[in-house]
Amino acid sequence: MYVREYQLKDATYLFNINKSCFSNPEPNIGLLEHIHKGQTWVCCTEKDDKPIGFLVSTYQNGAHVYNVAVDPEFRNKGIATSLFKEFHYFYREQHYAWLHVDTSNPAQKLYFDLGYRIKEIKYDYYGPGQDAYVMVKEF
Ligand SMILES: CC(C)(COP(=O)(O)OP(=O)(O)OC[C@H]1O[C@@H](n2cnc3c(N)ncnc32)[C@H](O)[C@@H]1OP(=O)(O)O)[C@@H](O)C(=O)NCCC(=O)NCCS
Repeated sequence: MYVREYQLKDATYLFNINKSCFSNPEPNIGLLEHIHKGQTWVCCTEKDDKPIGFLVSTYQNGAHVYNVAVDPEFRNKGIATSLFKEFHYFYREQHYAWLHVDTSNPAQKLYFDLGYRIKEIKYDYYGPGQDAYVMVKEF
């Protein structure tokens, strides 16, 4: 598996990964809009260059992780960690990186391991009773 920059031919794979990873997935059009606005990396299989995970970033008050997801079949193999490595390197001259995460999402552990800390909580960010942490990593 290897990480490379997003290409147009990847779009359908990303839509499918997005759908399989979230109970309330971002609509394709919204995802595409952010992909074109910022910088996106995909992790692909060696055999057929097929994306199995992605990280969409934008520049918004610092380096911002807009969306990150890995095909459930390929989790816990370090794919998200590799995608974050590219993201951190690309924005290395910024002061910090940040993201939102649902307060009940176990992905927080990954973010702590990558050096992020909780900066604040946004109540009802994802809907009534669904709060988000803003997590930040200073470079
Ligand atoms: C979060 C996500 C991208 C991590 O991808 P990944 O490739 O499996 O991550 P890595 O292999 O690099 O790292 C795995 C680490 O993340 C943690 N982790 C992430 N999601 C987890 C989950 N659902 N359950 C348990 N642990 C989880 C594990 O603790 C693991 O750490 P460990 O290796 O020390 O045990 C993936 O679980 C996913 O797509 N989740 C659904 C979408 C999502 O919630 N995205 C984040 C939105 S903020």
